[in-house]
Amino acid sequence: MKILIINGPNLNLLGKREPEVYGHQSFDEYFGVLKNDFPGADLAYFQSNHEGAIIDKLHESGFSVDGIVLNAGALTHTSIALGDAVGAIPSPVVEVHISNVYRREAFRHHSFLSAKCVGSIIGLGLEGYRLAVQYLLNHERT
Ligand code: DQA
Repeated sequence: MKILIINGPNLNLLGKREPEVYGHQSFDEYFGVLKNDFPGADLAYFQSNHEGAIIDKLHESGFSVDGIVLNAGALTHTSIALGDAVGAIPSPVVEVHISNVYRREAFRHHSFLSAKCVGSIIGLGLEGYRLAVQYLLNHERT
C-alpha cells in the first residue's frame, strides 16, 4: 500500500521551530521511525512551503496512492484552493495537526480541508501521523 505524507509551509523546520509547540524532533528523523514501524507499507514524504506545489502533488498522486496524510500548516486556515484539490482526488486524505489548534488563536479554528478529508487528527503531536497511517492501512479501499 502506498501512502504519501505531505507537510506544508514551515514544517520543514520541525525540531527547530517553536519546540514548545511542535516538539524537538525533525520530521526527517520521525519519518525514519515511521518507516521502521510500518515495514510493509510504501511510505513517501513530500514537503513544500508553496501552495501550488502542494496542489500539484495532490493532483499527481491523488489518483494513484492508497492514502494521503496531509498537514497543510497555515494553508489549512486560508486555502480554498487546497480544499478544492483534496475534494478533487479519489485517494482518501487524513488531515493532521501536531498542535491542538483549538487551544490556539481563533484564526486556527477553521479548516478549509476538514470537510473534504475522511477525518482529522489534531493535537496529538507527531503521533498523529502514525495514527493516520495506521488508519489508512486498516481501511484499504477495495
Ligand atoms: C499546524 C497548525 C497550524 O495552525 C500552523 O500554521 C502550522 C502547524 C500543526 O501541525 O499544528 O504550521 O498545522
